[in-house]
This record gives sequence, C-alpha cells and structure tokens, in this order.
Amino acid sequence: MKDNFNRDIDYLRISVIDRCNLRCIYCMPEEGISNLLPHHEILTYEEILKIIEIGIDLGIKKIRITGGEPLLRKGIVSFIEKLAGIEQIRDIGITTNGVLLKKFAKDLYNAGLKRVNVSLDSLDADKFKAITRIGSIYEVLDGIEEAYRVGLQPVKINVVVMKGINDDEIEKFALWSKDVEYQIRFIEFMPIGPNAWKKELFLSKDEIKAKIENKVGNLITVQMKKAGPAEYFMLEGAKGLLGFISPITTHICVRCNRLRLTAEGKLRPCLFSDKEVDLKQLLRSGASEEEIKALIIKTIHLKPQSLSERAKPLRPMSTIGG
Ligand code: 5AD
Ligand code: SF4
Repeated sequence: MKDNFNRDIDYLRISVIDRCNLRCIYCMPEEGISNLLPHHEILTYEEILKIIEIGIDLGIKKIRITGGEPLLRKGIVSFIEKLAGIEQIRDIGITTNGVLLKKFAKDLYNAGLKRVNVSLDSLDADKFKAITRIGSIYEVLDGIEEAYRVGLQPVKINVVVMKGINDDEIEKFALWSKDVEYQIRFIEFMPIGPNAWKKELFLSKDEIKAKIENKVGNLITVQMKKAGPAEYFMLEGAKGLLGFISPITTHICVRCNRLRLTAEGKLRPCLFSDKEVDLKQLLRSGASEEEIKALIIKTIHLKPQSLSERAKPLRPMSTIGG
C-alpha cells in the first residue's frame, strides 16, 4: 500500500533474533547486550508468518531476514522454506555476518533462498578481529565463497566505512571487485544505537568514491532494475560491482519502501525513529486479523517523509535488524 507520501510499501525486514555471535564495535557493547530478550518475548515463526500473511494483503512482496545474527536462530532453514513457499512473496533475502554461512549456505539455497548479504568491514584478519571483537575472518570468507558456490545470487558484501578504522581498505575492497562476482557495497556509518558513532569517524559516499577514483580507477555507472537505496558502479573489466549506500548524505527516504519487524514483535516505520507499535501484544491477546491489519496500516502512516523528521534511534542495530 501507499504511505502518506505516495511511497509504495512492499518490503518487510524481519529480525528473527536479537542475539549475535559477534560484538561489532559500532553495534554492541563489549559484554554484549545485557537485556537480551527471554525466549518467550521473541515472536514465534508462526506469529511471524501470520504477520507476513496479513502484510501480503497490504502489498508486501519482499522479505529480508535479519538479526542479530539470523543463522543463530533454531529452525531458520525450515522457516525460509516456508517463506519460499508463499506465492505472493517474490523476493527473500537474508543479512548475515557470515560466520555460520559455510555451514548453512547449501541448505538455505535448497530451502529456496535466492540471495544473501554478508557484512564484512575488513579484509585484514587482525583488523576484522578488532572490529568484531571476537570474529574470525576466515570463517566469513569461507562462508561467502560457499554462498557463491552453491548459487546464492547475488552475493552482496556490506562494508560500513569508518574513518581511521577501515577507510585505508577502501581501495583493497574496490580492487577485490575486479576478481569476484560480488556486489561490494560501502555504507555510510550511521548514528544508530548507543555506541561508537562520532562525527570524526564519518566518511561520506563522495569521499569514498573519490578515494576509489583517485587511486583505483574510473567508476562506470551501472543501472540496476531494483537497486533499493544503493547506487552501483563498476571498474572497467571488473567481474563484480561496487555500490554505495548513503543514508546520511543522500535523500534515500524518497524511495523508502520498507517496514521493520523487531524480534520482539514491534513494528517500526523507520530505522531512524524510535516510534514503534506492539504487534506481539495484539497477536497474543487474540486480536482479529482486521485489528492487526489496522495497526499495520497505522504504522505505515507513521512513516516520516524525510531525514529532518527523524530522531536518533536508541536501540542498537542488533535489536532492530539492519
Ligand atoms: N551504520 C551503518 N551500518 C550499520 N550496520 C550496523 N550498524 C550500522 C551503523 N551504525 C550494518 C551492519 C550490517 C547491517 C546489518 O547493518 O554492518 O551490514
Ligand atoms: Fe552482530 Fe551485525 Fe551487530 Fe556485528 S553488526 S554485532 S554482526 S548484529
């Protein structure tokens, strides 16, 4: 359905778990999130499917599964299989940190998953460990290769760029796109959650692009049919693509088509707003489909028009689901 600003809302991002097996510096405190949700506070798969069904009546056609780390949730493969069996859902993606991807890629593909986004902020083992605090880059690189090998397409790599932390690797990532058929996407660091964001760490899309064009080569524009918030380019003769997601310096809100469902069943109209409505409570109180639908419609109408109306969200990304 259309929101108040004539945007077609057809995309639901679903966080299926608030837990994660990494502790990325910009996302989590070192000790982890102290108030992790108890099991019964997390939506069951049946509840999520019910919300999706009602969402479909309102025009939802695309689903992305996120976390925390979604591959940590038990039964994720059969859940994906159920999603893939829903005729009206035309696109299912998953966003993962890749740690468990080697183990799950084949099963996910066989369950009907088409594509995967993997977060990878460094190509250097020590730096990767410093950013994620506990991660091993080799597991993630193996996971990415396995995803590609089993046919998950496209494989997208998300790189959050932070000045003084990984901006010295922009060229390395760009060069990587020559050799691999992945879509490597640089994301502007957003002031989300209680941790780590400082404006000294911020690097804009234009600065990132300039670094690539100065040091690596010309970026050739690539038009994509369904690019979402990313703009795509390629280096001459490259196998892969380079993308830029600039939530801070571009008016991406104009094209925003999404709602977010948190692991504990709150529906959020915008990543940059702490407004949320409690779908779980309604579901568990035995509300009718019509009542649930009405609340989803109300949430769609809460979508802000643009950045100026957005407030800094207080929840960490791991609980909202990138
Ligand atoms: N700014 C930009 N991207 C972020 N992510 C998490 N926190 C931030 C932030 N503050 C990214 C992760 C992952 C996706 C889930 O969101 O790196 O790619
Ligand atoms: Fe986990 Fe993703 Fe947060 Fe890193 S950014 S701690 S991988 S949820």
